[in-house]
Amino acid sequence: MSLTTLHDRGVIARWRAHLPVSEKTPVISLNEGSTPLIHTPRLSAIVGRGCEVFVKYEGLNPTGSFKDRGMTMAISKACEQGAKAVICASTGNTSAAAAAYAARAGIACIVLLPAGKIALGKLAQAFMYGSKVVAIEGNFDDALRLVREIGETEPIAIVNSINPFRLEGQKTAAFEIIETLGDAPDVHIMPVGNAGNISAYWMGYREFHAIGRATRLPKMIGYQAAGSAPIYHNRIVEKPETVATAIRIGNPASWEKATAAMRDSGGAVDIVTDEQILSAQAWLASHEGIFVEPASAASIAGLMKCCGQDRCTTCPLPAIPEGSRIVCTVTGHGLKDPDVASKQIGNITTAKADKRAILDLLAT
Ligand code: F0G
Repeated sequence: MSLTTLHDRGVIARWRAHLPVSEKTPVISLNEGSTPLIHTPRLSAIVGRGCEVFVKYEGLNPTGSFKDRGMTMAISKACEQGAKAVICASTGNTSAAAAAYAARAGIACIVLLPAGKIALGKLAQAFMYGSKVVAIEGNFDDALRLVREIGETEPIAIVNSINPFRLEGQKTAAFEIIETLGDAPDVHIMPVGNAGNISAYWMGYREFHAIGRATRLPKMIGYQAAGSAPIYHNRIVEKPETVATAIRIGNPASWEKATAAMRDSGGAVDIVTDEQILSAQAWLASHEGIFVEPASAASIAGLMKCCGQDRCTTCPLPAIPEGSRIVCTVTGHGLKDPDVASKQIGNITTAKADKRAILDLLAT
């Protein structure tokens, strides 16, 4: 076994022919991608009419979110171009991925985070991976504006999704779904924050459709948190709020691309409340064994909202034909946000370390 092939299972190695890389590009990888597409029978039953729902579990990437797909590209290209430092604004997952891949590349990483609004696991990652953490007295949109300004004057590469290599890497999730299912699904559902990921998936689906690897294109349906829904309301939200801090964004960078993806695919954008998000998060963990962070549960909450008893009228989901295949991307791991998850912990029952005592307790 050679040391180079040991790390040769990542997104760039697997999809090289479809990515803007050359022999000169150093591959900075942590073996990201190739995440499982999990069939979810109980979720499928909620949708009914013979539809099958699959979950693309992106929380199983090396830093626990889909950001690793884009970051292997962004950091590899930054290194190819001779960058010695990278910078990003983040609600937590981009910074975790940037910090990890920069560490792997041996270059510096600076992350600008909205103070007090980063889930604990993600903050720990930024520090553990050795990035320079700056907490901004403002929200993600303020942090991204500052990153753009710094990028204009300083020799530091920006690795937010305004860097086109990020979306190139992230589109590979759509390739994997087509490869696993043998074709594109009928509907693809995902959470929308800065709006890069839905744009990336749409690019991936269209590319594989264009070369005949898929016979159809899915309807792209995006869900925003009700308190942070600029695309849904078609206006900038100055003070976005949601328990799903990953998508607490009021002025998404890829707004137009995402709108085009949803429009051109015959899809839609809709909203889910914090309550719906948290209940979908707990439901998915306890009914399908898949623990995701709150932002990721927005796609599940949306599916339940539109296909459950409380059907909404604004999105095309209730009208999808019988036997449709639906894929929901769940973007980040549940352990990223232990604070939110720990609120679900009920009263812990204690017992003597004795078999009889435990069985008595279980009988009550
Ligand atoms: N889900 C999770 C877990 C995220 O971290 C993000 C974005 C999204 C969904 C939305 O994806 O921005 O491409 O529409 N997180 C960014 C970050 C903003 O800084 O980590 P998007």
